[in-house]
Amino acid sequence: MSSKKNTQPIVFIGFMGSGKSTCARSLAKLLDWRDLDSDVIIERREKKAIPQIFKTKGESYFRTIESKVIKDLLQKPQSVLAFGGGVVCRKVNRVLIRKRAFVVWLKVSSDVLALRTRKSKNRPLLNVRNRKEAIVSLLKERDLYYKRCANVIIPNNSGDVLEKIKRIPRIKELLREKRS
Ligand code: S3P
Repeated sequence: MSSKKNTQPIVFIGFMGSGKSTCARSLAKLLDWRDLDSDVIIERREKKAIPQIFKTKGESYFRTIESKVIKDLLQKPQSVLAFGGGVVCRKVNRVLIRKRAFVVWLKVSSDVLALRTRKSKNRPLLNVRNRKEAIVSLLKERDLYYKRCANVIIPNNSGDVLEKIKRIPRIKELLREKRS
């Protein structure tokens, strides 16, 4: 029988392009848990793509929906959650995430993020003339928040990130539990 701690959601946080959704999907498969993505749920609820929500209703409307969605998601045991990169900007979100989940921050440098997001058109905050500058400035604002939220920091500039994740003691324990 799993302890409550070990059914607590696992949350991936980090900047846009840090690999949260891919990691959540892969880890969920390994654990046989469900994987859920806050952006996908928001788009489904609003029946609009994220750039459309930003354009028609504004960022602050988006953030309010985002807070509601993550609150719901954090109540789901045995789930691996990928949260939008800006979720850590609101203190209420940070407090809730810390309280309800085991949190992994995928930390990526601004150079690599700029490269990975260069073709992305669905991230309104990056649709600016100087994308690299926007990334650097947002990271400066957010890094401390990611750090405050995280139980573990996993560098994800290169290499096999899933292997790194599998070495996190808490994850190791869950994988061991699953096998037994
Ligand atoms: C945002 C990140 C996006 C999405 C929205 C805002 C941000 O999610 O929620 O465009 O403020 O960093 P991803 O991190 O999944 O790209």
